[in-house]
Amino acid sequence: MITDDIFLELNSLLVRFDQDQVFILTDTNAQQHCLPVLLDELRDMGEPFLSRLREHTCVLPAGEENKTLDSVCHIWDFLINHQATRQALLLNLGGGMITDIGGFAASCYKRGIPFVNIPTTLLAIVDAGEGGKTGFDYRGLKNEIGLFSNAYETIIYPRFLQSLPKEQFLSGFAEMLKHALIASPLEWERILALDIDQLYHRPNPTLQEEFAAVLERSLDIKRYFFELDPEEQGMRKTLNFGHTIGHAIESRLIQRSEPQPHGYCVLWGMIAELYISHIQAGFPSETISRLIQVMKEYYGGVLFSCKDYDALIDLMHHDKKNLDATINFTLLRNIGNPMINQTADDETIREALDFLFSV
Ligand SMILES: NC(=O)c1ccc[n+]([C@@H]2O[C@H](COP(=O)([O-])OP(=O)(O)OC[C@H]3O[C@@H](n4cnc5c(N)ncnc54)[C@H](O)[C@@H]3O)[C@@H](O)[C@H]2O)c1
Ligand SMILES: [Zn+2]
Repeated sequence: MITDDIFLELNSLLVRFDQDQVFILTDTNAQQHCLPVLLDELRDMGEPFLSRLREHTCVLPAGEENKTLDSVCHIWDFLINHQATRQALLLNLGGGMITDIGGFAASCYKRGIPFVNIPTTLLAIVDAGEGGKTGFDYRGLKNEIGLFSNAYETIIYPRFLQSLPKEQFLSGFAEMLKHALIASPLEWERILALDIDQLYHRPNPTLQEEFAAVLERSLDIKRYFFELDPEEQGMRKTLNFGHTIGHAIESRLIQRSEPQPHGYCVLWGMIAELYISHIQAGFPSETISRLIQVMKEYYGGVLFSCKDYDALIDLMHHDKKNLDATINFTLLRNIGNPMINQTADDETIREALDFLFSV
């Protein structure tokens, strides 16, 4: 839930748990920017509780490269060394890296302890913080090992976004654009009407209010799909729109040591997948042009040569979402009219990549 009173939220949560058994997982950036805010908000819980909480804070180095089995083991060691019992509660304070890995570590520790997500990036708020997907990267494959396990609660406190670098803000915003495109023309027009620069640099109360409303809707759209199909057997795949090509771009950029935020790759993936949607299902080209306009204004493009195409298509073949040898796409017939379990031949995928890299 979105709250502007995190003390109230946490207080009503923490009374249900043994206060000696509350732990925090965070990373070095969230430790610097968000942990002091959280501890300050909790000051009425009393100094003994706060100092125990400081002692019970496990800090991972920031960055996707630390979403590893080693970090999972570090969390388990930390819990064991601090005598965490099966009654323990883990608060995951951070971006999607922390909520994913913390959710996994908690779900396996002593066969499972509850965890609460307190997402601190826009991407984690709109995507990673809810929906039950947990895990870590393994042998260079993103989220290769993991399990579905729901957070006991997800607490969204937008104030944490104040310290977020702009590119991280834009990364989450791309997932909000995705939610609008799969939902309805109304959502799409509403999100396009937001002035992103003003929102990030000098938001006024009216703009903040409108953003909060769009954010709430974005969360509702994501919830609608994952509640319908928690383990992604069918309709939840709608949320993968943009991600088949987006993930391949993300992985290829990592291979080239030029990583880009997840949402940027999803935005590029959406443009290429809308091109396929246009060819195969008549998706309107005017809407593709509007997304390209957003890309040019805020995100910038991405460039690969045709030498990379085989590698990109190969990465698409390794996607977890595939059911067989064919690459699985979610395409759109129109805004708000998604189609899951679609395929495209290699020629069309190459054309879509040509289109993306030439705009
Ligand atoms: N479980 C899911 O459904 C799901 C969905 C989408 C993404 N993910 C996962 O989420 C991760 C990406 O999420 P992310 O972009 O939040 O990554 P992240 O957690 O790495 O955060 C991005 C950067 O922002 C920093 N940061 C976090 N909060 C901050 C704040 N308030 N102020 C300043 N800096 C802050 C982090 O330290 C990091 O450097 C990936 O691992 C991805 O696989 C999971
Ligand atoms: Zn995503």
